[in-house]
Amino acid sequence: APVPIPDLSKCVKSTPKDIDPVDCCPPFSSNIIDFKFPTFGKLRERPAAQLVDDDYIAKYKEALKLMKALPADDPRSFEQQAKVHCAYCVGGYTQLGYPGVQLSVHNSWLFFPFHRWYLYFYERILGSLINDPTFAIPFWNWDAPDGMRIPSIFTDPKSSLYDPKRDCRHQLPKIVDLDYTKSKEDPTNVNYVPNYPSAEQQIQINLSVMHRQMITNSQTSRQFFGSPYRAGDEGGVDDKGPGSIELTPHTPIHIWTGDPKQPVGEDMGNFYSAGRDPLFYAHHGNVDRMWSIWKTLPGISKDCNDNDWLDSEFLFYDENKNLVKVKVKDCVDESKLGYCYQKVDIPWIDSKP
Ligand code: C2O
Repeated sequence: APVPIPDLSKCVKSTPKDIDPVDCCPPFSSNIIDFKFPTFGKLRERPAAQLVDDDYIAKYKEALKLMKALPADDPRSFEQQAKVHCAYCVGGYTQLGYPGVQLSVHNSWLFFPFHRWYLYFYERILGSLINDPTFAIPFWNWDAPDGMRIPSIFTDPKSSLYDPKRDCRHQLPKIVDLDYTKSKEDPTNVNYVPNYPSAEQQIQINLSVMHRQMITNSQTSRQFFGSPYRAGDEGGVDDKGPGSIELTPHTPIHIWTGDPKQPVGEDMGNFYSAGRDPLFYAHHGNVDRMWSIWKTLPGISKDCNDNDWLDSEFLFYDENKNLVKVKVKDCVDESKLGYCYQKVDIPWIDSKP
């Protein structure tokens, strides 16, 4: 059977490894409404973060500033938005109708649809705060040379887009390592890389990683989306099979961005805290974009057609503070949700390792 919505009345503190439990439960409501597709004139185009102009940046900063200024118990507030991720990932929720069975959206085929819905509501809330329903969040274009650094719009300490809890070694102009592990920079570890590749080399390596993960290792929908996860299955952080992109580069980018001097890699380097960094939503914008691109690749790429996947459900608060129930099947075509991605070069298509 499909994974049901979380039982909000049973939400408990989340339990990240190695630190005290954290309260990530959303405000309670028993009034759940069904999702309705938005109406819109034309698609909202999510831009590449390195290409946006000053007007866009001003708007985005303003929207996030307003979101951060909402009271902490407003489900639209930045604090609550960050908690959405935490609650769905590390033991906060159980599945409605399956007492005691955890709900955990990572390392399985729920990864892509859960995050797509999450960004959808995040974007709609930002748009409504600035009275601009056409507002679209940017994506961190880490799969192309132009985008392989932390986008500069997120690096101004005075801006609402900034987060101080990031690895100080990975600030501009450092090129991201899409296959990063902490051990590569740890001289006490056997996997230590004493001579890290140059920026030029790293770019080429990254393009090969993208080709490998998007094409070579994503020949079937099972490989791309990850393993099945059905109602009653115990969700856990490590016990399901992640899809190719979730595994790499999605997770390495999280770890690369978070601050290793914090207790557990906050913010980006841990599930419970990742949503506290505004960069998270741009990172996942590109993860989501990979889903859109994968479907257009020639060959056998197609969405999963298992009904347990299509009928799985999640709960989110929308821009009107309504608690909305959504289904995976309603997000597989992002144009129905009213958005698309700016067309930019996809150089890894031809970068055979
Ligand atoms: Cu929900 Cu990037 O993890």
